Amino acid sequence: MTARVLQVSAELYPLLKTGGLADVAGALPAALAAAGAEPRLLLPGFPAIQAALAPEGTVAPVALPWSEGRATLLRGRLPGFGMPVYVLDAPGLFDRAGNPYGDADGVAYADNHRRFALLGLAAARLAEGADAAWRPDVVHAHDWHAGLACAHVAASRARRRTAARTVFTIHNLAYQGLFPAGHFGDLGLPAHHYAMEGVEFHGQVSFMKAGLHFADAITTVSPSYAREIRTPEQGCGLDGLLRRRADVLHGILNGVDYAVWSPAHDRGIAQAYDADRPAGKAACKAALQRDCGLDVAAGAPLFGIVSRLTEQKGLPLVLQVLPDLLAGGGQLVVLGSGDARLDEAFAAAAARHPRQVARRTGMDEGLAHRIVAGSDVVLVPSRFEPCGLTQLYGLRYGALPLVHRVGGLADTVVDCTLEDLAAGTATGFAFDGFDADACRRALRRAFALWQRPEDWAAVRATAMRQRFGWDDAARRYVALYGGLLSG
Ligand code: ADP
Ligand code: GLC
Repeated sequence: MTARVLQVSAELYPLLKTGGLADVAGALPAALAAAGAEPRLLLPGFPAIQAALAPEGTVAPVALPWSEGRATLLRGRLPGFGMPVYVLDAPGLFDRAGNPYGDADGVAYADNHRRFALLGLAAARLAEGADAAWRPDVVHAHDWHAGLACAHVAASRARRRTAARTVFTIHNLAYQGLFPAGHFGDLGLPAHHYAMEGVEFHGQVSFMKAGLHFADAITTVSPSYAREIRTPEQGCGLDGLLRRRADVLHGILNGVDYAVWSPAHDRGIAQAYDADRPAGKAACKAALQRDCGLDVAAGAPLFGIVSRLTEQKGLPLVLQVLPDLLAGGGQLVVLGSGDARLDEAFAAAAARHPRQVARRTGMDEGLAHRIVAGSDVVLVPSRFEPCGLTQLYGLRYGALPLVHRVGGLADTVVDCTLEDLAAGTATGFAFDGFDADACRRALRRAFALWQRPEDWAAVRATAMRQRFGWDDAARRYVALYGGLLSG
């Protein structure tokens, strides 16, 4: 039986992206279809989605749990997606500038609980058969924004209006969608869902907990993170629940969309290259140095960062080891948006060392590719990292990842120890212990390898030959759906 699966997500590459969630939501549907499932998408009607939508019709109105406004489910097509998509058209909630979650200044919208509750409600309406032509067997909800889909489907299953199963994927447990208890009445859920065995979390409403409690299966985006979040250190207060549900919690590593991220056919970079013909990488590096005003020096190891500027990403460690990086003759290019203080710190470093440090702000997809292509190393020293995609892009583009050994970083990067160098399995630099000294030692390993160009080239070739495609992940998701439907 082919599982009909509704993917519910708040972001979608290439239309709307604040981080890796968009990359996953954009690549997974095609991979699922190739692996034998029948996916469709449900998205909030954000301006970028509405502008790209070729509508095919109205599915049904969605009744709001509050009085003002209106909402309608539309069906249509989005360019590049080979399946119909559902868009929740509710202009009063979604037709706003800024990112999906907040205004241009990064302040979260005051009615986010309503906005994302309605997304969950719409998913449940589809599970109940709102579109007579296509009813999902599985609702697959991504991150807290879609967490209420699991609660609403559970409620509608209790009323025998659907038999759909739910899968909830944790992309980042740290963002939980917490709201005051007084907002519960807006969510359209049965009153008894406001309970410890429900969406209540320390006197608040938690959309993340709704997903974790009500989903039939939980996944997260790497095997290591699936273990880490069951500990008090990394469980963000939800480790007890995750331990209780360990039998339905699976770690499925994200893939890379190699149609988007491959130096062999990346039209935005200075010169194409791959593992067998790596020469073009030097041209990409020179172009990046030139564009960023750095010394155009092939011999200077170039370190790149493409990141949200948040505590999670370990960027204070980079600032702490920056003197060593510069003293060793290295260069640094940072592209990031987010925390103003981190941004100012990198801006100050760039002002002090304009030929060695460059800093760019904002979301810039093209520059992200040019940085990964032009860098010798990508820095991802995250405090925690559910999966991490930039290290996977770094591997593919021969920019060796320097990472803190946690989560998906631990699962995808092999440190340049003597034994892994000898075995030909090393692909980057990984350190244990989240402190500047450990990070500095990894940096020293990078400089030591840089002094041995033949070894560097060999590690780089190994890195570029790694494969983290979506096919494997998609097969696992399809097996999971199959298990839920036969169980
Ligand atoms: P997270 O989702 O936690 O931010 P990931 O490594 O999974 O981390 O994904 C980050 C994604 O966002 C990558 O595709 C990366 O290239 C992209 N990205 C992050 N910051 C920027 C930026 N300032 N400009 C362009 N792309 C960015
Ligand atoms: C989250 C995580 C990141 C992961 C991404 C996609 O944003 O922080 O580690 O790669 O989701 O799953």
